Amino acid sequence: LVLGIESSCDDTGVAVVSTSGRVLGESLATQADIHAAWGGVVPKLAQEAHEAAIDGCVEAALASAGVTPDQLDAVAVTIGPGLSLCLRVGVLKARQLAAAHQLPLIPVHHMEAHALTAAASAASPAATPDLVEFPFLCLLISGGHNLLLLVEGIGQYTQLGTTLDDALGEAYDKVARLLGLDLRPSGGAALEAFAAGGDPRALPLSVPMQRRPTCDFSYAGLKTAVRLAIEEQAPEATEGNRQVRADIAASFQRVAVQHLEERCRRGVQWAQESHPQVRHLVVAGGVASNRYIRGRLAAVAQAAGLRLVCPPPRLCTDNGVMVAWAGVERLQLGLAEAPPASGEPGEGEWVDLRPRWPL
Ligand code: KG4
Ligand code: ZN
Repeated sequence: LVLGIESSCDDTGVAVVSTSGRVLGESLATQADIHAAWGGVVPKLAQEAHEAAIDGCVEAALASAGVTPDQLDAVAVTIGPGLSLCLRVGVLKARQLAAAHQLPLIPVHHMEAHALTAAASAASPAATPDLVEFPFLCLLISGGHNLLLLVEGIGQYTQLGTTLDDALGEAYDKVARLLGLDLRPSGGAALEAFAAGGDPRALPLSVPMQRRPTCDFSYAGLKTAVRLAIEEQAPEATEGNRQVRADIAASFQRVAVQHLEERCRRGVQWAQESHPQVRHLVVAGGVASNRYIRGRLAAVAQAAGLRLVCPPPRLCTDNGVMVAWAGVERLQLGLAEAPPASGEPGEGEWVDLRPRWPL
């Protein structure tokens, strides 16, 4: 049994997962209400909210699993990438638990956790039983990352593409804010819902980087084009310009996702040439909960003879299950650290955090 703790951004997540992949218990405290008022995540407020939530989340996850800390085999925790103030809260809690019960500690990379969860949830009995085997192609789309990877094993990643500026989730969040939407549960989810009532062809936006035949992404230019359109057509959000704003939202989404499709198509082609045994396109991270994106990428995968695999939407956004699951995989490979000395970490002590940590 592995207990996983996630606190890299604005969700405090804890879960207990068995080595067979069963989720025994979980708990999640989100901070959407706190940050919505500020139009984005405020690190200091996020830290305070994590501090207020962490003990209760750990207790709730253990209680719902019917497990005491002594019955655990290891504690896994996200040590990066993310906001250091926030990472620190989860890491301190994990180290205290591991020290008190002399459990091995497993440092987890947040994006690896997203990637492995998608593969694991596809293999769970609840979903279609379809084991995702290495190597697979993986698109990670979240608020801070936009990565296209060839995954050949745990810790074996070839980066085919990354963003040259913004991540897709960040672009969704910014456009949602410019359109004056209620940013709960997230800017991305709000924009997806709002765009459903708009005409995706209303605004003639150009697809980014069409003359650059790489797998890299760029969303800054598109974001600027959308900002200018909003300043011109709907500088203030009113009921009267609701349709105009919905049209802009839908147009942004269409073009942003077309860019994603084009890069994925190229990545798939490259991966199939170099690794003909690739069978799956795995898509994970908060933005992967978007139904429109899932539909479009399913078509890209299908056209290339691949299967699209996404975690269920609640496992796309940050949660404890993904960290516990990545911990299980690492534990099985013997990649755990010895339990911290009891009494450690003390107040103000140095702990290993990796706010910037390439995969
Ligand atoms: O993985 P995640 O929960 O946290 C990070 O690691 O960043 O992803 C959060 C991002 C946010 O930018 C949020 O707006 C976006 O995922 N997101 C969505 C949707 N749900 C969440 N973006 C587009 N459509 C959605 N339905
Ligand atoms: Zn994430």
